[in-house]
Amino acid sequence: MTNPVTIAQEGRSAGPPGAAPSAAAVPDPATTDSTDVADVAIASTALTKRFRGGQVAVDAVDLAVPPGAVYGFLGPNGSGKTTTIRMLLGLVAPTAGSATLLGRGMPAAGRTVLPRVGALIEGPAFHPYLSGRANLARLDAADRTADPRTARHRIDAALARVGLGNAAGKRYRQYSLGMKQRLGLAGALLQPRDLLVLDEPTNGLDPQGTREVRTLIRELASDGTTVFVSSHLLAEIDQICSHVGIMSRGRLVLQGPLAELRGEQDAVLTLQTSAVPPAVDILRGLGLTVTEAGGDVVRAAAETAGAPAVQDVAVALVAAGVPILGLALTRPTLEELFVALTGEGFDVAR
Ligand SMILES: Nc1ncnc2c1ncn2[C@@H]1O[C@H](COP(=O)(O)OP(=O)(O)O)[C@@H](O)[C@H]1O
Ligand SMILES: [Mg+2]
Repeated sequence: MTNPVTIAQEGRSAGPPGAAPSAAAVPDPATTDSTDVADVAIASTALTKRFRGGQVAVDAVDLAVPPGAVYGFLGPNGSGKTTTIRMLLGLVAPTAGSATLLGRGMPAAGRTVLPRVGALIEGPAFHPYLSGRANLARLDAADRTADPRTARHRIDAALARVGLGNAAGKRYRQYSLGMKQRLGLAGALLQPRDLLVLDEPTNGLDPQGTREVRTLIRELASDGTTVFVSSHLLAEIDQICSHVGIMSRGRLVLQGPLAELRGEQDAVLTLQTSAVPPAVDILRGLGLTVTEAGGDVVRAAAETAGAPAVQDVAVALVAAGVPILGLALTRPTLEELFVALTGEGFDVAR
């Protein structure tokens, strides 16, 4: 299991130029240098929310978000992500259970902890008749820890960072959904934060905007900020996550380092060739379990442990004179993992 973890970590963190690739899931130095970083950025124990009417929206959720992680909080619409986030931020009281942010109990420690937390939640309360810039100015002014003398600089930097520089003077009500979302993000970025909690930050964004948000999250994470980001679109953010937690019907059905969760799943080797029978013999000879052979395709299960590397398979095939039209090693996507775990499609459950 060490291999896939290492590969994924190297792929994720850009690191300083010239730096040796990190060998394992080492916390970002920027995080470890900081004096008051908690062992877990977010933790919850049996966090539960039952709404009036009896519906359990969040059911005994135990979150563990390590410092420095980009934690993808994934789940279909209605699975309880926003309700969980509202409880974490002290916006709604849990029915049962507890939560900590940066090591401090919520909601009791809200006054001390929340200034270190940037949050983007559903339907941010912006003033419709004020411009984007004026809205940010109001937000900034409400922050007791923000120096008013540097407000202009902070606001312009945040607007530029989310690509709203040119639309800063426009009224909020004239913003598109994507622009509103960007402004919400800018609000979360006014100050440097130890933790960012972003509820569906890519909602309403076009593919380009989605890519920009991904890049932004990567940048923030490489500065040492822990990012907790929710999405109902698995594929949209799984590329940037170091960790994932997957919600289904109010329950956290899966949680952990992404590379590990993926690594536990068998990889599949797919070979396209005009010589299927000899190819099957070769693959079996290499110790692979052939799961499918027909037409011009051979598929084999390639468990991470003990399976030959793709290049060894290629060498053996070539040596035996088997033409290779295509050869790929694929792992199940997060979505396939989810379906395998829950027996459900990744869509609205109720
Ligand atoms: N204020 C509320 N009152 C009653 N039910 C609610 C309320 N907010 C959310 N719910 C219900 O709780 C469930 C989880 O919702 P939510 O946390 O918004 O999910 P997600 O963010 O994953 O889409 C849904 O079934 C939703 O209808
Ligand atoms: Mg939601």
